[in-house]
Amino acid sequence: MMEPTRETKQTGEAKGFCIAVDGPAGAGKSTVARAAAARLGFLYADTGALYRAMALYFLRQGIAAEDEAAIAAACGEVDVTLSYDGQGAQQVFLNGENVTGLIRSEAVGNMASASSACAPVRQKLLELQRSLAAAHNVIMDGRDIGTCVLPDAQVKIYLTADPHVRALRRYKELEQKGQTCNLEEIEQDIKERDYRDMHREIAPLRQAPDALYVDSSHMTMEEVVRTIAEAAQRKRREMEAGQ
Ligand code: DC
Repeated sequence: MMEPTRETKQTGEAKGFCIAVDGPAGAGKSTVARAAAARLGFLYADTGALYRAMALYFLRQGIAAEDEAAIAAACGEVDVTLSYDGQGAQQVFLNGENVTGLIRSEAVGNMASASSACAPVRQKLLELQRSLAAAHNVIMDGRDIGTCVLPDAQVKIYLTADPHVRALRRYKELEQKGQTCNLEEIEQDIKERDYRDMHREIAPLRQAPDALYVDSSHMTMEEVVRTIAEAAQRKRREMEAGQ
């Protein structure tokens, strides 16, 4: 198992080959990024999990999503670290507790979307994300990877899909888990999350000018994975030819 990145903290330029995958909630980023990472032999970093771990802490403390002062103050009490097991699966730790299985609920996701607008939250996680990229070939998914976290990433992908398609995917996922849910509510939730993520002041979700736009509404996950892997291979060849 790799050591938690806290212990290998470094700032500055990424040293590895980095693929940034940004896009709205439910576009399939994590599924395709994980598969592309396995295909390319890269580390897969799910940055949403970091924001979710912090959100879990705020929820546990009973902090309201709109209470920015309390969120900022609580940032000083939170320590979020990552580690990867032998299969490359990411584990997230909140003050030493493995919370990987506790951060997937809608409540945590909504709190993460709200609290991630706060500067201290973003500041806290920036160094952790950059330290990962400094140490590994990484495919990192999130909202601001290509625009803020790794502006020099060798490959940038902006992955999106129609909100209705994203809601339907989420609905089927929850149904498969035996959870009862309402499609209209899920779609509404997705649209609200998109709005918050795209309109916050700091590091809003937007396509980097040099990112490849991929609309997965009518693509299979395999087609998206292939698109990413091909973009990475193309870039590698270009870099080799330029040397
Ligand atoms: O990708 P996700 O649904 O797990 O992310 C949860 C929230 O975290 C998302 O709504 C916004 C925030 N986030 C962010 O602001 N920046 C990132 N790089 C990743 C996630």
